[in-house]
Order: sequence, then C-alpha cells, then structure tokens
Amino acid sequence: MIKVSHLPLAKLTTLGVGGESEVWTVHDQTELLEAMQSPYRPLGGGSNLVVSDAGVKERVLLLKGTLAEVNLESDPELSHEKLHVTGWIGAGKALPALVRQVQKLGLSGLEGLVGIPATVGGAVWMNAGTRYGEMWDALYCLEIAYQGKISVHHPSDFPYQYRSSGLPEGAVVSRVRLKLTPSNPEDVQARMDFADNARKGQPKARTAGCAFKNPNGVSAGKLIDEAGLKGLRVGNAMVSHEHGNFVINLGGATAADVLELLRIVREKIGIPLEMEYEVWE
Ligand code: FAD
Ligand code: EPU
Repeated sequence: MIKVSHLPLAKLTTLGVGGESEVWTVHDQTELLEAMQSPYRPLGGGSNLVVSDAGVKERVLLLKGTLAEVNLESDPELSHEKLHVTGWIGAGKALPALVRQVQKLGLSGLEGLVGIPATVGGAVWMNAGTRYGEMWDALYCLEIAYQGKISVHHPSDFPYQYRSSGLPEGAVVSRVRLKLTPSNPEDVQARMDFADNARKGQPKARTAGCAFKNPNGVSAGKLIDEAGLKGLRVGNAMVSHEHGNFVINLGGATAADVLELLRIVREKIGIPLEMEYEVWE
C-alpha cells in the first residue's frame, strides 16, 4: 500500500538541506503509476540534490518494495560465456550495495561506480560515473514509467552523455537489467580499489558530490582551487578544502546558503560552469 508521510527532505539528502515535503513511498509499478497522477518528483539517494528550504509542493516519490529488489541471476537465453545479462533490478536499490553484490559474484561492469551513494534509478537518471566507467556502460535495458504507462527501452533509445541520461522530463526509472562480464571476485575487487583510490582527495563531510560538471573534461575542482576559492563560505556552506568542486555542509547550512555560494563561485570562475547538482525549488 502507498505510504504518505511529511518529512524534512534534509533528512533524505546527503547534503542535508531541504524543507518538509509530502513523501509517497511506492512498492510496485501499479502504485508508482497511481502516485504519478499528480505532479511528482522521484527521489533516489538524495545524493545530487539541493532542495529548497521551503521543501517542494510536488509529491516526492520513494521507490521501495519490488521496486528495490534485485535479481542478479543470468538470463540463459541472453547470456553466454562472455556476457551475463541479469534479471530485473529495482530502481530503488542502493547502488553501493549492488556494486558489492555484483563483486561478490565475480561479475565485472560496475567497478567504476564504487563510492557513488546513489540509488540505481538516480544513477541511471544522470548517468552517474567516473573516469573508470559510467552507468550506461552496464545497462542492458531499462523500464520506465512515463505518461501513465510502463515501457521497456534499449539504452541507445536515449541521447545519454556525460552525467546525463537524456530521459524525457517526468520519466521515472522503475527497474533495469544489467549486462556484466563474468570475471572473478578478486579481480573485480582490485578494479574497485583502483577506482576508489581516485576518491582519496574527496571530503567525507555532508555533501552532494561535485557541484559542477567538468567543462570540456577540465576538472572544475581544479579551476575552483586555482582561483583560490577553497574555504569560501556562505553561512554554514563551504567550498571544501579537500576538493574545490565539493560544497560541504558544516552543520545547519540552508539551501539558500548553498545556492548563494555556488553563485559566487560561478561568478568568480568567469567561464560558464554547468551545475551538476539538481536544484529542487
Ligand atoms: P537523487 O539525488 O535522489 O536525485 C537526483 C536526480 O535524479 C533528481 O532529478 C531525481 O528526480 C532523479 N531521480 C532519482 N531517482 C530517479 C528515478 N528512479 N527515475 C528518474 N529519476 C530519478 N556522481 C557521479 O556521477 N560520480 C561520482 O563519482 C559521484 N561521487 C559522489 C560522491 C559523494 C560523496 C556524493 C554525495 C555524491 C556523488 N555523486 C557522484 C553524485 C550523486 O551520487 C549522483 O548524481 C547520483 O547519480 C545521484 O543519485 P541519487 O539516487 O542519489 O539521486
Ligand atoms: N584537483 C586540484 N584541486 C582540487 C580538485 C582537483 O588540483 O581541488 C586536480 C587533481 O589533483 C587532479 C585533477 O584536478 O589532478 C582531477 O581531479 P579528480 O581526480 O578529483 O577528478 P575531477 O575531475 O575533479 C571527477 C568527477 C568525480 C569523480 C572523480 C573520480 C566530475 C564533475 N567529477 O572529478 O565525480 O568521482 O572524477 O573519477 O566529473 C561527481 O560527479 O559528483 C563526482 C564526484
């Protein structure tokens, strides 16, 4: 049954800002389509979001139940020695747990996504990734809820690119199937460690990851660092001393603090920086 609660979204986001909103927890496709009958916003791990201090007026959709279940068994009709096509994986599944499960089975394909605190749906929505791989590399197909219907698509149906899936506005990813390569747990772990090593310079504080996309492959963090903006602060939001592209919440920061800080950073950098954070106002 759909559960409706009123919650401060600060509690459901990694940056920890955002006011009270109506949260609809849905457990299967029927409930999802029902919840989508009025304006809505799907919420994953809340790890790329700056939510307004006033909250949002739309229904916030959380995917649980069968929409967070995982079937990693290989499909015998599609799999072979060099390819493991999984069953369905719910979009509400936490990506870090999935990456771990896949490693334990000795399957390769998600190593580059280690350390991304997303749900599967959120990672698909923005094609999350690192230089060691992105979500799209491992997608066999995806199921979406859109305009009152559930449909299944091939990943190439969408104009995905760096940090963007190209899914139409309003589409909710409900489930995916992955294409993985049979390997062994030790080798997969070694590749995960290698990818994780690139995160050594990232802060462990409350954050929503990188604030800006890298312009033309240049590290926005490096540009912000070179401009001397590390440590710049508005209220309790601060540009991390560890990595220039991370805004951290020192405790009690507001969305207004974060957005003002980002405005100042953009102005000072002087070249157009596209926001990676999604802002819910
Ligand atoms: P949310 O933040 O909840 O939502 C983000 C957007 O996705 C929203 O527009 C939301 O409506 C939409 N969405 C969520 N679920 C669905 C769904 N089921 N269907 C349709 N739309 C949906 N990102 C990287 O790419 N690479 C990194 O290396 C990386 N490192 C990070 C490290 C840290 C410490 C943190 C905090 C974040 C990092 N991020 C990184 C950013 C973030 O984890 C990714 O953007 C991630 O994909 C967001 O997923 P989410 O489930 O948390 O989505
Ligand atoms: N650098 C600095 N100062 C800084 C930050 C970086 O000089 O403050 C330098 C580093 O020393 C390095 C170079 O810039 O020489 C690149 O830095 P890093 O390896 O941290 O990579 P990045 O381009 O800044 C990208 C992604 C991260 C991802 C890492 C690791 C974007 C916007 N960022 O960061 O993704 O985790 O690579 O693959 O694409 C995210 O998208 O939220 C995110 C965290």
